[in-house]
Amino acid sequence: MNASLYADRHYTLGAIDRRIYGSFIEHLGRAVYGGIYDPASLRSTSSGFRTDVLDLVKQIGVPVVRYPGGNFVSGYRWEDGVGPRDLRPTRLEQAWFCTENNHVGINEFVDWAKLAETEIIMAVNLGTRGAEEARALVEYCNHPSGSYYSDLRVSHGYKNPHGIKYWCLGNEMDGPWQIGHKTAEEYGRLACETAKLMKWVDPSIELVACGSSTFDMPSFGYWESTVLEHTYEQVDYISLHMYRGLSTWNNFAASARWMDTFIKSVAATCDHVKSRKKSRHTVNLSFDEWNVWYQGDWAQELETRWQTAPHLLEQIYTMEDAVVFGSMLITLLNNADRVKIACLAQLVNVIAPIMVDENGSAWFQTIFYPYLHASQYGKGEVIKMIRHAPMFASDQCEGCYLESTLTYDEATGTATLLAVNLSQDEAMGLNCDLRGLGEVQCIEHTVLNHSDRKAQNGSANPHNVQPRQITPPVADDGMLDVTLLPLSWNMLRFVVS
Ligand code: AHR
Repeated sequence: MNASLYADRHYTLGAIDRRIYGSFIEHLGRAVYGGIYDPASLRSTSSGFRTDVLDLVKQIGVPVVRYPGGNFVSGYRWEDGVGPRDLRPTRLEQAWFCTENNHVGINEFVDWAKLAETEIIMAVNLGTRGAEEARALVEYCNHPSGSYYSDLRVSHGYKNPHGIKYWCLGNEMDGPWQIGHKTAEEYGRLACETAKLMKWVDPSIELVACGSSTFDMPSFGYWESTVLEHTYEQVDYISLHMYRGLSTWNNFAASARWMDTFIKSVAATCDHVKSRKKSRHTVNLSFDEWNVWYQGDWAQELETRWQTAPHLLEQIYTMEDAVVFGSMLITLLNNADRVKIACLAQLVNVIAPIMVDENGSAWFQTIFYPYLHASQYGKGEVIKMIRHAPMFASDQCEGCYLESTLTYDEATGTATLLAVNLSQDEAMGLNCDLRGLGEVQCIEHTVLNHSDRKAQNGSANPHNVQPRQITPPVADDGMLDVTLLPLSWNMLRFVVS
């Protein structure tokens, strides 16, 4: 199978916002307790944070982490998690039917984020709570001192404000499974009033309104336009969530195209409301939950009812999952003009690239590598490419065997091509015309593939699936030919002069 790409340095999509490489940690399963926090572990700091996890998060370079949920936030009382630990209540948590001891709360997460060199995207509870509790939380976190909630923070040992800039107005409020699920009208009004109060406390914050929890929701489109009718001038982003599971291979492999359609549809809805309101403000997209996730065993996992930090949603990823995952990451980059924030859901143990064993060290899932490569080298701006590649049919949309993106970083004079071949059995001969970039020299071709498409990593065999460097193709006057192996993730790096 053959494909070709053509690129010109002047034909750019725009700068990549680093927040596109964000992630997500929820009070769910072993993400917090037994994930980032484990005071019993010899690998932990004196405050109980796992140092091996911190090192990996820093290695990836995760710029923002959404917290504390997810579905969890819609029943969360943030006051439960601040102040002396021995006075914090233990609660029945009704999103995941677990027992929450509140040993980690907002202040501990702020401490963790500092160590992890990341910024927090804080979600507020608009399920069981409302504008006043969200406003109070902004005051607690961001107001210097001299008011009830800011002085409460100071009394808890945090003299300086946390300065949390990004805030989500609830989570998946369109979903019947959500604690405090709302209609678009109910949510739109509440989000608008909450946004006003939050921004009156701290006008520098940026707000994310809840969009649809999946592209397949029956209310999709109506939900976005109604919510934005109410909130357009108050919010900076609207959220998108998408999890892709293996139904048929073709549907799974077409995930990138389906995600692209979702993004374009939400952007069009934002712009429709913008033009209707004759607004000068642009609402951008926060794709604040995305991943591969086979959601089938959700009900079975509820058998862990009322346990503290049970093993929940600990999906072990395969080689083919990593390729589809990579294609979704490529799609986010190819929409960098509108997607300013994206959060891989999630970061540790729960549908995550990083896994933590109680007694052993942290290890990487297959999906860790595309995430690492993109975050480390997908910098600067995205160059739009012209692509000719074979297509395949799926139930939702046409898929393309080649998904690719090209980034160019003027600061370092380097370019990075990220590409997947979604064919299960055929290699792809890819011809790249990069003459429009200038003089190019390919300095690295890293490939992630495996002879068994169901191959996984685990604590016993953590390096079963791992990337390797192969001989980079030679560019002949800006033209180069490269072979993409079946079901492979590829990163080619270039020096450009
Ligand atoms: O990431 C797991 C869950 O998926 C989140 O809690 C929720 O927002 C989504 O449905």
